[in-house]
Amino acid sequence: MITGGAGFIGSHVVRLFVAKYPDYRIINFDKLTYAGNLENLKDIENADNYVFVKGDIVSVEDVKKAFEKYEVTDVIHLAAESHVDRSIEGPMDFVMTNVVGTVNLLQQAKENWKEGEHVFHHVSTDEVYGSLGEEGLFKETTPYDPRSPYSASKASSDHFVMAFYHTYGLPVKMSNCSNNYGSHHFPEKLIPLMIHNVVNNKPLPVYGKGENVRDWLWVNDHASAIDTIFHSGRIGESYNVGGLNEWKNIDLVKFLCQLMDQKLGRSLGESEKLITYVKDRKGHDLRYAIDATKLEKELGWKPSITFEKGLEDTVDWYLNNSEWVEKVTSGAYKDYYENMYSDR
Ligand code: NAD
Ligand code: DAU
Repeated sequence: MITGGAGFIGSHVVRLFVAKYPDYRIINFDKLTYAGNLENLKDIENADNYVFVKGDIVSVEDVKKAFEKYEVTDVIHLAAESHVDRSIEGPMDFVMTNVVGTVNLLQQAKENWKEGEHVFHHVSTDEVYGSLGEEGLFKETTPYDPRSPYSASKASSDHFVMAFYHTYGLPVKMSNCSNNYGSHHFPEKLIPLMIHNVVNNKPLPVYGKGENVRDWLWVNDHASAIDTIFHSGRIGESYNVGGLNEWKNIDLVKFLCQLMDQKLGRSLGESEKLITYVKDRKGHDLRYAIDATKLEKELGWKPSITFEKGLEDTVDWYLNNSEWVEKVTSGAYKDYYENMYSDR
């Protein structure tokens, strides 16, 4: 069972598993919040080895029913509230889904997996390690130091996952990944939001001075890392996943603007004029950077494409899928955008 399979990363993981493992029955368990969208999976919805179940990981009844009905043998857990800015506005949804929902899944796995071989793969984030200065990389041994309500909720869920391993022997694996980008990314996150605003000639809101640094990984490479860790990683271990691809936000936005100028046939520098520095995010972590050596050395995983190629493909996808963008940005998105950016 894959939870959160209708979201950004989850839909790429579901698609990969449905295509690569015809003998598995892939159950996509998702509540379909604002971030979940079955349009993301239109191309595989009729596949023989695929089932969609609408359910809430917080509900004991929903999760128990899915475990029993489908005799769930393994879990890849991606369902979460994932956006840091939303967690600053309202942390409770993050506590419910990310903490309570994860414990509910662990509990059902523990009760249903009395015998046989199983894996509970928990998908987490590099944000649990806190914020780096100019130097250094997050390793699996870096102490946890979460600083936003989002990262605090993910850190808490990680601790519960490891607690179920140590206390009950539940066969868990964990991965902590850096920032993803790619197709089907909801335009609340930096890259799809900037693409959407450039297309619509709207201001490009860069928080603070734009000096914060993130490590960007193509979403399909994250999906392949999950596949590798799920199948070959060691039980009870966590693996960092990253792109060795650090960008200051302002440099990334400028680079994206140049690419968009080319794609839209605008004169070079035109999109950049839309950049607007706005009030910083509260408690904005300065820098994230991942050391993925363990994953590379132990399991042979590496990112498959360069950032330049991945970003160009991503821009092309957004320009060729304006209907998808139109659908996800109508309705509630407008209220979210107004609330988040109008007096920033
Ligand atoms: P997303 O917000 O795009 O999708 C989340 C999905 O979870 C949606 O389909 C939503 O409907 C579903 N969901 C939310 N609450 C639920 C609930 N209570 N019950 C069932 N389903 C629910 O998230 P994403 O960016 O795809 O992230 C997926 C996972 O990867 C998360 O756990 C996130 O913390 C982690 N992660 C994300 C990134 C990133 O850059 N986006 C990086 C590292 C780790
Ligand atoms: O590091 C992994 C994490 O990456 C994941 O765990 C989270 O689920 C995911 O949302 C992402 O978190 P970030 O906060 O890093 O991503 P976001 O796209 O929101 O922001 C990236 C950077 O861009 C960050 O420094 C804030 C800045 N930013 C973001 C937005 C939305 C802006 O300057 N302007 C914006 O409008």
